[in-house]
Amino acid sequence: MEIERIQLQKHGDSRGMLIALEQDRNVPFEIRRVYYIFATESDVHRGKHAHRHLNQLAVAVRGSVTFLLDDGTKPVEVVLDDPSQGLLLGCMVWRELYDFSDDCVLMVLADHLYDPADYITDYADFLSELSGSLYGEAVVACQSR
Ligand code: TYD
Repeated sequence: MEIERIQLQKHGDSRGMLIALEQDRNVPFEIRRVYYIFATESDVHRGKHAHRHLNQLAVAVRGSVTFLLDDGTKPVEVVLDDPSQGLLLGCMVWRELYDFSDDCVLMVLADHLYDPADYITDYADFLSELSGSLYGEAVVACQSR
């Protein structure tokens, strides 16, 4: 599957570094929610779901984490280990997160508020929503929000 990364501009000087995230400038959606994940043990797998409508941008602001991303074609592993790299997570993409470094702080921006009904947590259900009769509807709904 195609991976969309966003290179975030660093503003550095003798005092250190700064990166700004701005809606519709370097973040390609309306920012309605920000959450961050930290203190996850290295042997823990998180995620294991897809979203029907949600678009997200993930940034490892500290440390590193590996994503497995799967849009139903060829799954791809992506390592996030640079605070100036954003990873776009579109809707209808199965994601798993693992290999968290001890110091990892993963910040995620999202274009909708938290909604448990938007989650697909069973991989077989994910595949059937992608490939079944719902496929056209799922893609259209995904893109139009
Ligand atoms: P969960 O979705 O299981 O995290 P992950 O997919 O990274 O493994 O979320 C963990 C808990 O946090 C769960 O009880 C739901 C809650 N939560 C919120 O309240 N708001 C949020 O924005 C998110 C992402 C999770």
